[in-house]
Amino acid sequence: MTVKAAPRLRGKDLVGIDPLSPGEIQLILDTAEQMRDIAQRPIKKVPALRGKTVVNLFMEASTRTRFSFEVAEKRLSADSLNFSASASSVSKGETLLDTALNLEAMQPDFIVLRHQYAGAPHQLARILKSSVINAGDGAHEHPTQALLDALTIRLKRQTLEGQVVAIVGDLQHSRVVRSNILLLSRMGAKVRVAGPPSLIPVGMDAMGCEVYRRMEEAIAGADVVMMLRIQLERQGRMNFPTVREYYDFYALTPERLKLAKKDCLVMHPGPMNRGVEIDSRVADGPQSVILEQVTNGVAVRMAVLYLLAGGHGEPAAD
Ligand code: CP
Repeated sequence: MTVKAAPRLRGKDLVGIDPLSPGEIQLILDTAEQMRDIAQRPIKKVPALRGKTVVNLFMEASTRTRFSFEVAEKRLSADSLNFSASASSVSKGETLLDTALNLEAMQPDFIVLRHQYAGAPHQLARILKSSVINAGDGAHEHPTQALLDALTIRLKRQTLEGQVVAIVGDLQHSRVVRSNILLLSRMGAKVRVAGPPSLIPVGMDAMGCEVYRRMEEAIAGADVVMMLRIQLERQGRMNFPTVREYYDFYALTPERLKLAKKDCLVMHPGPMNRGVEIDSRVADGPQSVILEQVTNGVAVRMAVLYLLAGGHGEPAAD
């Protein structure tokens, strides 16, 4: 499968992976590789988005996504406005829609939205003139996470095609797994998923992945193992007997990692529950690329902002 990079992004928004063609995914990844170079310069700033305004509208907690968007905006010379739900009129009962319409009245160019409800960015994208970027909506999608995961794999392996990627953990509540299955399968990777039966959504195999109950079967011979966080805050009840048993059956330990390929990459979107879904010896071990994922997140978010603003080719240096 040969994928040629598209000349530009077709849409105004990035609300999910599904609307992206393989050529558009390739374009974002190629542009992100160029953006990585900016971080190596003595002055980590280009004027590509000078005069553009970005509202970072985070209605749910975030460390990596929020700060990497902010760093990306600063590196591209955009003006960033950071929204805190607790210090805003949301705390007085103002709706998301009214909040967004009032912010749009100040004429920003982008709204980056993280929200606890699936579909919230899609709803805003339909009514706002600004470009809406989904920074994670409920258990639905997290497109820039999947793009940074793909960039991390591609930088290590030169291609996504044919890579066997095992994604293990709380599949039910994960927006990361949905975006990754869509992206990786579209780019020719083979995706396997595994988790406790109570945390596997019905019909997941229809998304284009192989579903396993036993983690060992999913990771056998894998090129990449991506562990997912157990999202206790989204679970109304415990979906497994105890955390200890979860570790016994579904944690990535040094012993289990030996079942994968010798040079298998270990990934985790963060935040990690050390000693629950991942053993610290693996998280901090030589095969871990977890912090490289975070570094690549800045480059991917720079690429997405730059391309949605209409850019193509390498951004000019200051
Ligand atoms: N990976 C990720 O979305 O992390 P944050 O919740 O800290 O943004």
